Amino acid sequence: MSTVLVTGGNGYIGSHTVISLFENGYDVVIADNLANSKMEVQRRLEKICGRSFKFYNVDCCDEEALSVVFEENKIDAVIHFAGLKAVGESVTIPLDYYSNNIGSMITVCRLMKKYGVRELVFSSSATVYGMSEDVPFTEESPLGVCTNPYGWTKWMIEQILRDFSKAEPDMKICLLRYFNPVGAHESGLIGEDPRGIPNNLFPYISKVAGGTLEKLTVFGDDYPTPDGTCLRDYIHVCDLADGHVKAIQYLDSHDSGVCLFNLGTGKGTSVKEAIAAFEKACGHPINHVFGPRRPGDIAVCYASTEKAEKELGFKARYTIDDMCSSCWKWQTMNPEGLSDN
Ligand code: WQD
Repeated sequence: MSTVLVTGGNGYIGSHTVISLFENGYDVVIADNLANSKMEVQRRLEKICGRSFKFYNVDCCDEEALSVVFEENKIDAVIHFAGLKAVGESVTIPLDYYSNNIGSMITVCRLMKKYGVRELVFSSSATVYGMSEDVPFTEESPLGVCTNPYGWTKWMIEQILRDFSKAEPDMKICLLRYFNPVGAHESGLIGEDPRGIPNNLFPYISKVAGGTLEKLTVFGDDYPTPDGTCLRDYIHVCDLADGHVKAIQYLDSHDSGVCLFNLGTGKGTSVKEAIAAFEKACGHPINHVFGPRRPGDIAVCYASTEKAEKELGFKARYTIDDMCSSCWKWQTMNPEGLSDN
């Protein structure tokens, strides 16, 4: 059985990917420093999968600590999620974002080289397309000017991995550019559990629906879109998790080098449509007001899914209604999120 090291595997996308890997016959080792996740996730994963997973509480920037994972386990592939990911926060503490996100990727690459681990899947983001309005974004769409340090770290890491691949020709590297991950596992036992006030739309709507936040402010309804609000390509986190399994399988069966895929649905949903879908899922109105545009937002962002379908064999299955109902189940089962202990 192949063993996959999932860094950041205690986090939102990481934990859902652990389940998909397990369900597809992989063994999983998790490395996470709990900076943005809670140990309760491990107990929830055990409930869902019926087994526990080897867990290392390590910072991926700490080469000595992380090397223990490679010493104690025969790792066949790495999926690297670990990193800081709040767009707004990255503007206030850019040095932490650059040192942590880039430093952890470099440390993981050094250890992969040292221990002869050749397959890497990197958690990238559609944010690398920048402010372009030339949608749908294909994998050949030009990289843009990112609007925040978080986006720049993804942009820079993609370049670092291309250079690493040139220097280490037997490496197999897959860059996955996510669009907007939302939703939760069908059990309602794990889901998006941001600390503090959510920055992203879905967790914010979810807390308004659950009564833990008073109202949603829609950032702008004067965009050049059908209903005046921004369009985004929301993709169910379980679809995203399956996309990572497909990426590992792709690397297993293809030559070395760097490959790149968008993970999206190919459909743009407006903020108003998202609110309406969530109201259908929760059965009551979502209290919301319209406010000014948020700096850095683009009007329309959605993926071309052609390459992922044709080459990766990946196609998103879940609808916006599935995303909302799974999010609402997670919210009602965990109104205050997971406990910290
Ligand atoms: C979606 C829409 C907002 C909150 C970000 C990152 C991206 C990726 C996904 C990691 C926008 C509107 C939001 C609110 C609102 N993350 N909105 N009121 O900005 O598309 O993408 O998260 O990879 O890298 O940039 O997602 O959920 O913040 O916003 O009206 O309280 O919802 O203006 O139009 P975004 P989002």
